[in-house]
Amino acid sequence: MELIQQIGKMRAKARALQSTGKPLAFVPTMGALHKGHLRLIERAKGLGGSVVVSSFVNPMQFTNEQDLKNYPRDPAKDEKACRDAGVDAYFVPSVEEIYPQGFLTSVNVGYLSTKYEGASRPGHFRGVCTVVLKLLNIVRPTHLVLGLKDAQQFTIIQHMLDDLSMDVELVGVPTVRDADGLALSSRNALLTKDQRAAALCIQRALKRVHFLVKKQGILHSGELLQAIRSATNTEHVTLDYAAIVNRTTLEPLDHVMRGGTYILIAAKVGDVRLIDNTRI
Ligand code: PAJ
Repeated sequence: MELIQQIGKMRAKARALQSTGKPLAFVPTMGALHKGHLRLIERAKGLGGSVVVSSFVNPMQFTNEQDLKNYPRDPAKDEKACRDAGVDAYFVPSVEEIYPQGFLTSVNVGYLSTKYEGASRPGHFRGVCTVVLKLLNIVRPTHLVLGLKDAQQFTIIQHMLDDLSMDVELVGVPTVRDADGLALSSRNALLTKDQRAAALCIQRALKRVHFLVKKQGILHSGELLQAIRSATNTEHVTLDYAAIVNRTTLEPLDHVMRGGTYILIAAKVGDVRLIDNTRI
């Protein structure tokens, strides 16, 4: 595995990998790699070509200085994990490399970026889209592999790729969870033991919705949202939003549309903000 810090070198390596004619799969991350990220890398490897992983804690997508400062970092462990996973090139640029002095451009995917995560963190998706587009232009992969845990991010990036006629295939990987059901997240490392136990109510709420829809035939969003509010009304946990939305447009739905619905939840557990979702 080659560890690369400069854009020019990453570009050259990516061109060399692509010259084989096989797929070049790209997995962008912010480091602090866990089994969720590793599943993405596995999926990328499964495409049968080369794999490039990037690790860049992107300041543009953080809306809070403290959150950026607190974001977990473990570069040595991440590098080893990528090496062990058989990654071909590991791109770890500095902030100055990605955003040199005078950087002015940003990418904004309209109204999709202003809801839910975007409402709680204004400017967040502008930062995500800008860095993802820049990384795609550097690596120029055939496939972009993203996790469905970040459902809104996935939908917005899909929209950006379509709108800008990007020649890259988007691959979505289902959410990887701990044995107890908590969605893996780099931020879980910031939870105390009690907070971690309390955080399980998010997954319980999503399971409850599945049960109500599938076993009791309840499709009315108001009723389902009430069930989520009750299930997450517990010590350490403050619900930020719960939403039942169309998977493509992210518009709220009055009733669950089987096969096309996301149930989105964001909650603060102590000071740690967690998101999770399920598809119905
Ligand atoms: P990060 O939070 O590090 O996540 C990197 C990728 O891993 C994303 O595609 C995310 O959806 C996926 N992922 C995280 N946890 C997962 C889980 N439990 N199961 C499956 N996939 C999971 O998302 C970002 O970084 C950034 O916004 C980024 C796209 C890299 C742009 O900076």
